[in-house]
Amino acid sequence: MSRTDEAAPRTTSARPPFDLERIRREFPALKREVYGKPLAYLDNAATAHKPASVIEAMDHFYRELNSNVHRGVHRLSQEATDAFERAREKVARFLHAQSTREVIFTRGTTEGVNLVAQTYGRRHVQAGDEILISALEHHSNIVPWQLLAEEKGARVRVIPMDQRGVLTLEALPTLLSERTKIVAVTHVSNALGTVNPLPTIIAAAHERGIPVLVDGAQAVPHTAVDVRALDADWYVFSGHKLFGPTGIGVLYGRESLLAAMPPWQGGGDMISSVTFEKSTWNELPYKFEAGTPDIAGAIGLGAAIDFVDRVGYPTIAAWEHSLLEYGTEKLTAVPGLRLIGTAPGKASVLSFVVDGIHAHDLGTILDREGVAIRAGHHCAQPVMDFYGIAATARASLAFYNSIDEIDRLVRAVRKAQEIFGP
Ligand code: ALA
Repeated sequence: MSRTDEAAPRTTSARPPFDLERIRREFPALKREVYGKPLAYLDNAATAHKPASVIEAMDHFYRELNSNVHRGVHRLSQEATDAFERAREKVARFLHAQSTREVIFTRGTTEGVNLVAQTYGRRHVQAGDEILISALEHHSNIVPWQLLAEEKGARVRVIPMDQRGVLTLEALPTLLSERTKIVAVTHVSNALGTVNPLPTIIAAAHERGIPVLVDGAQAVPHTAVDVRALDADWYVFSGHKLFGPTGIGVLYGRESLLAAMPPWQGGGDMISSVTFEKSTWNELPYKFEAGTPDIAGAIGLGAAIDFVDRVGYPTIAAWEHSLLEYGTEKLTAVPGLRLIGTAPGKASVLSFVVDGIHAHDLGTILDREGVAIRAGHHCAQPVMDFYGIAATARASLAFYNSIDEIDRLVRAVRKAQEIFGP
């Protein structure tokens, strides 16, 4: 029996609770072939594919409505403004925000974190203060705080984690003090899939009056988010990981905090009046949206939210859980393969290393088999340092993935092992 044929029979429970083939047909890119093989796209944590409804919503904007928002008295501008603001209403509902004033459109998660660091952070963090992040952060929730800390003479501290990739919360009481001015943590780790215990972290911070920013980039594709139930002060995410377009994201902020924060970028739309002596700021959310926004992007994001609503998070979560269980079982059975990140209840991320094969070589061989994964440090170098490795191969699953695609992943890994020898 060749190594490729060794895969155990499929578990019968691994059946999608919806018409997977019909859903897949809604994603044009999933029909592609690469190197003459059907694409098995397992790089969803980097960016997810877009259903036709998202592409068509943006196409419709450019063909029919194209106009600037909040400015024109003419018909097209009013229609564009209505469509743009409808998208904001969808986001507010999606996050369970109290109002649309709490929804700021950004370029993405990274811009949302930088906005908070450069406004609230610059005003409230002083020399000797501390910003608390976690060992699981993506660079985008590390570097903005380091820039701020460097400017102010403050310090970035880190909630540690254990070998599974689970945060060690016993350390929290000693890490939080009167010096801590902001806590910034990820909801779900992009490199490992760990889901962080936000309620515990947020409650501990709030007991001491410290506001909390949550990086939700890797959470919103997998789970419903209620910012009020979470009691998050800021919650940031990107459209493109949520089956929406690139270049658009969201910063949710508690209205009282946003109202007290100074603006970040200056320009058109964010002002109420301008003279050469002094300018005054527009009301929320426009105070934080200088310049022409990504109108088509916001409309595309609204369509992505409609799409996710239509499928439903219970369906998404159930199928991703089956895929993750199946993938974990199959990959664990591969000799010489070690999963990195084994937190209980983690999201559908399978990060792994294989003895004797660099993750980049693995990624290249898998690509030739039509299997798209990410290989590298995943913009989370401290996570790699913790495990003493330079890189992992990462398969990140979306609800549109299939059992067959995971079988192809496993077969391709075994083929790489054959190429590299014992
Ligand atoms: N942050 C994205 C990832 O983890 C790009 O792949």
